[in-house]
Amino acid sequence: MKLKIDQLLEETQCFQASTMDELEQFRVKMLGKKGELNDLFEAFKTVANEEKREIGQKLNVLKNAVQEKIDVIKNSLETTETVSENTDLTRPVNDFVSGSRHPIALVRKEILDIFSRMGYVVAEGPEIEDDWHNFTALNFPPEHPARDMQDTFFVEKNGVNDIALRTHTSSVQVRVMEIQKPPIRAVFPGRVYRNEAISVRSHVFFHQVEGLYIDKNVSFADLRETLLYFAKEMFGEETKIRLRPSFFPFTEPSAEMDISCNLCGGTGCPFCKHTGWVEILGCGMVDPNVLENCGIDSNVYSGFAFGMGIERMTNLKYTVKDLRLFSENDLRFLSQFS
Ligand code: PHE
Repeated sequence: MKLKIDQLLEETQCFQASTMDELEQFRVKMLGKKGELNDLFEAFKTVANEEKREIGQKLNVLKNAVQEKIDVIKNSLETTETVSENTDLTRPVNDFVSGSRHPIALVRKEILDIFSRMGYVVAEGPEIEDDWHNFTALNFPPEHPARDMQDTFFVEKNGVNDIALRTHTSSVQVRVMEIQKPPIRAVFPGRVYRNEAISVRSHVFFHQVEGLYIDKNVSFADLRETLLYFAKEMFGEETKIRLRPSFFPFTEPSAEMDISCNLCGGTGCPFCKHTGWVEILGCGMVDPNVLENCGIDSNVYSGFAFGMGIERMTNLKYTVKDLRLFSENDLRFLSQFS
């Protein structure tokens, strides 16, 4: 009986089949009702007790080997059969498709590069922020209506200890001023969140780059020159800027900056609503209260801050009108930036 088992094991190991029929014949011969294995298991009943253990093990090895052989051949026959039946082997291979940077990443880099040429370093901070860094240190008094300017997603709401998704990257200004002594010259890129209805013009998250310059004798003229240089580098040498009075709790005075419309050059077109100007950022002189909140002596130091939306910049550079395109991952859109 041992000899028979060894013979069948060898036969199994050598077995090859090139069609499903051949394989099926092998299966019936080995595992069928009247097959070799059933015969052997029948004969096993009469094996002497002292041999049962050894022969039983051998039988199991054989049974497993047969089953495995059948599975392996079946598998490979199935795959080869689909290839030969359904595949047109004369078809050319697919083109190699290379990825591309996301437009937001491209414009982010462009903005940061311009400011790094002016000596600004990059700093980042957390997206889940406490009330102090997002609001209070930035001169938003508790219950002040200015907090409603930015519809906030709260993570935990418990008064002065609120935890929220940051509504602007100004929170990173505070973090940097708290740990660094002036002069400070830094830009803060990052994702921010606001609880707004998603539409062509607004989204629940977008990206900002904010900048901060603190030193002795920093003036509004420095702010203007810095932003003019930025606008020319970003949108072309002939770009003009204008500053309109505005309000932010953390800057005084505050302004909003427009650039001459980069599509029509300022003569008026539908894009700039025939005004010749498009708004690009908010800015101002850092409010002395903010400096004091962060441990910087406002009698010695002054500074300016500015903040812009990367989506807005991308919109201006590439005339992307629908904000939602930036987060839909539609390759027809994204591949245009490769
Ligand atoms: N944090 C402001 C916003 O999110 C932008 C800003 C930054 C304005 C710095 C002035 C100075 O709208």
